[in-house]
Amino acid sequence: VADRFRQGPLAGVRVLLTAGPTREPLDPVRFIGNRSSGKMGFALANAFVQAGAQVELVAGPVALETPSGVRRVDVETAAEMEQAVMDRVADCDIFVGCAAVADYRPDVVADQKIKKSQDRMEIRLVRNADILASVAGLPEAPFTVGFAAETQDPEGYAEKKRVAKRVDMIAANLVGAEQGGFERDENALTLLWDGGRERLPMADKSRLAKQLVSLIAGHYEKRDS
Ligand code: CTP
Ligand code: CA
Repeated sequence: VADRFRQGPLAGVRVLLTAGPTREPLDPVRFIGNRSSGKMGFALANAFVQAGAQVELVAGPVALETPSGVRRVDVETAAEMEQAVMDRVADCDIFVGCAAVADYRPDVVADQKIKKSQDRMEIRLVRNADILASVAGLPEAPFTVGFAAETQDPEGYAEKKRVAKRVDMIAANLVGAEQGGFERDENALTLLWDGGRERLPMADKSRLAKQLVSLIAGHYEKRDS
């Protein structure tokens, strides 16, 4: 269906999302990565389409099909993700940072496979840019939603990140071996905003995505009033 015929609470609204992990290469055959399946971000992209939005998804390396109606851009590293987002952010109304962006990358990327020699080796890492904070700090920032993946006190840490990064809403996500979160089909989240919160109990990521989109849509509509 052409965008202009779309119906729903977010008809005509342009949404840009990031999803999945990033990979930071060490050499041509190795990388530093993290445990993100991309399922939450892809479920969100799908739920935004269902709500009538025009959706663009910047995806790290994941084994997932593109939801129908979503424009997808594939990237590998955090730097590529940042570039893909910055190229598109001026044309979006809502930005959702769902990706598990690597905080650091190897300082030096070897152009040939690193050979083993010593018993110990050290890798120097350097910080990657914070894509979510950069977007939220733009002079004409879109309505911005982040995620916070935590192994303890998710709501406490998430609230600190919401304030520090100046995002409109943040979803606190408990992750780790015993939890939902990464690499699972289910998850539980708390969505936090200035002066409020909503706890979304353990559910299928597609169901959770619908609930998140409906809360985001409600706050997006009220944003300037
Ligand atoms: N994020 C980002 N760019 C980065 C790091 C994080 O855009 N370089 C975004 C994530 O997509 C997520 C939010 O910031 O929406 C929080 O990510 P998280 O890893 O939980 O927090 P950090 O700020 O990186 O802090 P830390 O890892 O130290 O807990
Ligand atoms: Ca991080």
